[in-house]
Amino acid sequence: MENGKGKDKEITLSDEGNITMDWIYGVKPGTLLLGKKGLILGIANERSIAYGCAKVFHLIGAELAVTYRNEKAEGHVRPLAEELNCPIIMPCDVAVPGSLEAVFDKISEVWGGIDFILHSIASAPKEDLHGRVTDCSKEGFLTAMGDSCYSLIRTAHLAEPLMKNGGSILTVTYYGSQKVVTNYNVMGPVKAALESTVRYLAAELGIKKIRVNSISPGPILTRAASGIEHFDELMERVVTVAPEHKLVTIEDVGAFAAFLASDASRGITGGLHYIDGGYHIVG
Ligand SMILES: NC(=O)c1ccc[n+]([C@@H]2O[C@H](COP(=O)([O-])OP(=O)(O)OC[C@H]3O[C@@H](n4cnc5c(N)ncnc54)[C@H](O)[C@@H]3O)[C@@H](O)[C@H]2O)c1
Repeated sequence: MENGKGKDKEITLSDEGNITMDWIYGVKPGTLLLGKKGLILGIANERSIAYGCAKVFHLIGAELAVTYRNEKAEGHVRPLAEELNCPIIMPCDVAVPGSLEAVFDKISEVWGGIDFILHSIASAPKEDLHGRVTDCSKEGFLTAMGDSCYSLIRTAHLAEPLMKNGGSILTVTYYGSQKVVTNYNVMGPVKAALESTVRYLAAELGIKKIRVNSISPGPILTRAASGIEHFDELMERVVTVAPEHKLVTIEDVGAFAAFLASDASRGITGGLHYIDGGYHIVG
């Protein structure tokens, strides 16, 4: 690969088939994030948005630390992380005190600093997720907020001293924060809080050259998405009404996340960035 034109090498990034290097904005592999070190929180399996991002980050030069939620997840995540030559692969359950702290201790020990973080974590108890917001239990609400929103605050707190030369922190949100999306239920208010958190973190950390942004993808069939009732209808609606009339892939999200993680996006912070085929302008 001489110039990123993509004619001499094809890589398989998704089960949709081979995608040439041109697809990543014509960026030469190994350049945009070359020498950058990043933490990926939220890979569950090969369908995870975080995995789509990790693949692209790795392809364009980043060195990655990857976490898995628990022992059960390790079997799925470790082989994926090993394929990406990650020097740090360790457990992290943000609901367990000390777990996130242990990850940052390890990063400090191995790397001494970090350049970017992808926070791609969300959860809510099934009974609350499947019910009306009106009926949500306090425990369910606090669990969803803690795992899906407070975890970003704690991540930023732990990252700050390690981002000595500045950095980029990304999280993943959804349109159900802005508009009422049927069946998104309690995750709507939780994602609204997450998006507001991004703005406050960006305002506070900008002086340290730490940028904070949220990415809002359209529906993608992942494990977390399968917990949302009638998710197939959400996908069908996007294909019907979104300007591009198609779903985005985890690699589409990865390409955009790579731009936001890199220095190419300097000056961009506190934002909510849709990658949804344009659905948010019509949905
Ligand atoms: N799939 C979609 O359509 C879609 C659209 C917009 C936004 N999102 C968001 O993208 C993010 C990633 O979800 P995904 O769709 O890739 O699904 P996924 O199931 O692959 O990823 C969710 C991740 O959250 C992790 N997680 C949940 N609770 C955790 C905890 N306590 N500690 C550590 N990790 C925990 C899970 O282990 C999993 O890795 C979520 O924030 C989700 O809300 C998804």
